[in-house]
Amino acid sequence: MTLESAPDFTVPADRPVTGEQVTSPGSEWWRTAVIYQIYPRSFADSTGDGIGDLPGITSRLHSLAELGVDAVWLSPFFSSPQKDAGYDVSDYCDVDPMFGTLADFDTLMATAHDLGLRVIADMVPNHTSDQHRWFQEALASSEGSAERDRYMFRDGKGPNGDIAPNNWESVFGGPMWQRITNPDGTPGQWYLHIFDVSQPDLNWENPWVREQFFDILRFWLDRGVDGFRVDVAHGMIKEEGLPDYTPPMETASMGGTAAAATDLVPGIADVPPDPPYWGHSGVHDIWRGWNAVLAEYPGDRVMAAEAWVDPLEKMALWVRPDEFSQAFNFGYMFTEWTARDMRKVVDDSIAAFGAVGAPSTWVLSNHDVVRHATRLALHADVPQGSGIGPKTPGKPDTASGLRRARAATSLMLSLPGSAYLYQGEELGLPEDMELPDSARQDPTWLRTNHEKYGRDGCRVPIPWEADKPSYGFGPSGNSWLPQPEDWAPYARDAQEGLAGSTLELYRTALALRSEHRLGAGAVQWLDGYGPDVIALRNGPVTVIVNLGKVAVELPIGELLLASEDIIGGALPADTAVWLRS
Ligand code: GLC
Repeated sequence: MTLESAPDFTVPADRPVTGEQVTSPGSEWWRTAVIYQIYPRSFADSTGDGIGDLPGITSRLHSLAELGVDAVWLSPFFSSPQKDAGYDVSDYCDVDPMFGTLADFDTLMATAHDLGLRVIADMVPNHTSDQHRWFQEALASSEGSAERDRYMFRDGKGPNGDIAPNNWESVFGGPMWQRITNPDGTPGQWYLHIFDVSQPDLNWENPWVREQFFDILRFWLDRGVDGFRVDVAHGMIKEEGLPDYTPPMETASMGGTAAAATDLVPGIADVPPDPPYWGHSGVHDIWRGWNAVLAEYPGDRVMAAEAWVDPLEKMALWVRPDEFSQAFNFGYMFTEWTARDMRKVVDDSIAAFGAVGAPSTWVLSNHDVVRHATRLALHADVPQGSGIGPKTPGKPDTASGLRRARAATSLMLSLPGSAYLYQGEELGLPEDMELPDSARQDPTWLRTNHEKYGRDGCRVPIPWEADKPSYGFGPSGNSWLPQPEDWAPYARDAQEGLAGSTLELYRTALALRSEHRLGAGAVQWLDGYGPDVIALRNGPVTVIVNLGKVAVELPIGELLLASEDIIGGALPADTAVWLRS
C-alpha cells in the first residue's frame, strides 16, 4: 500500500478561544473537554525556592493554550502544612503562602480565561489537616461536644480504651486510628484517618460539616472557578457501627477498592463488596447537594469525581444527572496493554457512563500513579500508590515504555468523551525510578517504613528549557524533588517544532481531535486487522493501533497522525495511526 502523505507533526497552535466562549452557558463543554492536570508544586516556580507556585503557573499558561487543551485542573494550592502535598488542607478559603496569594489566584484565573482555558480547583472534603481550626477546636473540646462531632472520634476498646476502635488500616500504611491526649493530659478518644495521621476524617453525617462546604464551594465559584475535581469522592460516609474489615488481597486501586490489577473491568457479580469506608450509598446525597450549589452559577461548572469504585457500572452511579458531571475512569487507566482488554474497557466505559447520560472519561496518568510512559512497560505488578524505585524488580525499558505511551495516548485522544492529561506526559516523561531515598516525601514511604516507595516518582518538577538550571522549572537550580540528570531531551523547548517529538504528537492529536470534533463523536469498531489490533472509526478519522508484536498492513488512506515512523505501509508493533476515513 502507499500512504498519501507523510506524517507531519507540526501543527500550528491556532485554536485560541475567547474569554466570552469560556463563560457561555449551556455548552456542557466538559463532555468533550481535554483537561490538563497541573500539580502546582512541580509545574513552574517563579521564586527560585524550588517549589512551583501560582505566578509560575500563570507565566506558563500560554503554553497550555498552545498545546490545545480546554481546561486546567489545579491540584490543591490551599493553606496546608503539606504533609500530603496539599491534600491536607488547613484553610479551604486561602492560598498557601508557598504557592502565593489569593490575588495571584485571581490573576491566574483571569489569564486562563483570556487564553480560553477553564480552571478547575481540587476540593478535598473527606478530611482536613490536623492543623485546621475545626480540628484544633475539636481537640480542645470535651468528648461528646459539637466540635468533636465534626470528626470521627470514638472510644477505644479494652478496659483502658487503649485498643483502636476497629482494625482498619490506613491507605498510607499503619492503623487508621490515632489516640489523642485530652487537654488535661489524660489519654483520650481515638480519631479516624483513612489517610495520614495528619488528615482526620470529617464526619459527613453532621449537617454542620455539609453547610461549611457549601460556603467553601461558593467562595471559589464566586472567584470564577469553572468547577471542581473532588478528592476521595467515594469516602465520606462510613458503614454504621464501623465494623472490622480485612481486605481480600492487595489491590490495584487507591486504598483497597476491590478489583485486582489483572481483572480491571469485571462485572458486578465478580467484585467483592467495598470496604466499609468506601463507596457507601450515603455519599450520593452529598453530591446532589453540591450539584445544586454549582447549578446556582452560570456557565456550566463541572464536577469531576475521584471515585475508586469498581466495577464501572457502580462508578456510573456517581455521574447520574444530578450528581457529578464526570468521574475519572480508573478502570481504563489500569487496563492491560492488549487489544482485547482495551477494546472491552472502551465498550464497557461508553456503555456504563452512557447508561446514565454521562460522557466517558479517559485517563492514563496522574499524580498518584506510575507515569504511563513507564507503567505500560512495567513487568512487576505494582499496586496503585505503592510506586516504584531502585529496587523494584522488572524495571521497564524507557524506550519501549514511551513507544507504548505514545500509542496509548493516540488511542485515548481519538475517543469520544473527555480526556485528562497529567503535566509532563506531553513531554513523554517517564517515572523517576532513581529518586534517592533521602529525597522521598510521600507519606506512603514514611508510614510503611520505606516498604512502599509511594508516588514521588511521578511528581518530579517538569523540564521546560534544556539548558537552564532546573531545566527552566524555576530561576534557580532548586527543585523540591531532584530532577534526573538525563532529562534535557524531554524539555519542552527541545521538543518544540521537532518532527516526531512527543510534544508535537500531542499537539497534532489535540488539534485533530478538535478539528474533527472527536470528543463529540462515537466509536465504530472495524474488524479484520487481527487479534492484536484495535481499529475504530470516529467521524472522519480511522484509528488503528497495533498492540501486538508483529507489524500489520495498513489500508490506503491519508495519514493524519502516527505515533512512530511508518515505513513501507506497515503498522509496527506498539504504534497507532489516524487516517482520514
Ligand atoms: C486522593 C489524592 C491523593 C491524596 C489522597 C488523600 O487520592 O489524589 O494524592 O493523597 O486523596 O487526600
